[in-house]
Amino acid sequence: MTTVKHKKRVFSGARATGRLHLGNYFGGVKGYIELQNNPEYECLYMAVDMHTITTPYNHKTLREDTNNIILDFLAAGLDPNKAVITIQSLVPEHTELAFLFSSVISVFRMQHLPTFKDKVKQYPSHVTMALLNYPVLMAADILAYKSDLVPAGLDQEPHLEVTREIARKMNDTYGTDFPLTQRFTTQGQYIPSLSGEGKMSKSVSGSYIALTDSLDEIRKKVRSIPTATTAGGQITGGIHTLFTLLKLLSPQDEYQFLQEYQAGTLKFVTLKDRVAEVIFEELQPFQCRRSELEQNPEYVERVIQQGAEKARGLASQTVREVKDKMGLRVGF
Ligand code: TRP
Repeated sequence: MTTVKHKKRVFSGARATGRLHLGNYFGGVKGYIELQNNPEYECLYMAVDMHTITTPYNHKTLREDTNNIILDFLAAGLDPNKAVITIQSLVPEHTELAFLFSSVISVFRMQHLPTFKDKVKQYPSHVTMALLNYPVLMAADILAYKSDLVPAGLDQEPHLEVTREIARKMNDTYGTDFPLTQRFTTQGQYIPSLSGEGKMSKSVSGSYIALTDSLDEIRKKVRSIPTATTAGGQITGGIHTLFTLLKLLSPQDEYQFLQEYQAGTLKFVTLKDRVAEVIFEELQPFQCRRSELEQNPEYVERVIQQGAEKARGLASQTVREVKDKMGLRVGF
């Protein structure tokens, strides 16, 4: 008899803190798409609005901000026929599981996470229970589906360590079968900042290109990338950013411009305008699909509702199993 191997599960979440930029697109969403298109994986992608409320936020715009994440997901090519796409707050099993998990991990462990300490520094008067619980809720997001893989940046590794600790503790104490989830990294994902320092980030204004920027906006931002040359003609700072973007989006141009650079004949404005053009060409299909989706809110709502139903079907089994093994009552 042959056994049917159950597909590997993939989960990832994006916080509703403003719109996606080029760095998120290449660093995150492209990886999501790669996994959804691989028949070996069953993927769930959510806008994690419950995580958004762990730091100060605007309750008047949260619902719309969350919806915008879903629109960006769909416009970028996430496909509801291949992956479950929905909103975390529509799947209450995540918070129920988070409470159950909070009984196997210590306050001390949570207080010493680098991500927690950063937020305490950033918002010293908003150190809430929800913030302390952030990693536990994330573990619940992931383990509600017994996920094997989580596409996410290196900054999320401490949270994945907590997820694995919780899984181990639950398995040892209650005999559950949670996997030890691994982080999944995609290639070519590092997009440098337009400032020439560090990675493209939402929190540094002028450092990023929004997926909705027009050609004019992109050209303006790219033209302002600093291109001071260093002695010895090394490719650093803003020049490195320009060549990295070109390499990713139009490798044939990269070769030519590199030759000119090395020959000392390169005009930076020509390079910059070409980079702006190839960025815009990459974003144009996204922008078209996004405006189509904006015209069709019923379709988007249907995707969210159907995704939530599927997710609840899966997550509720895990919650039942955990409650039962922990000695709690499960419904009739
Ligand atoms: N902490 C993640 C971030 O800041 C967001 C997140 C919440 C997440 N739950 C998740 C990511 C589960 C991956 C899997 O980006």
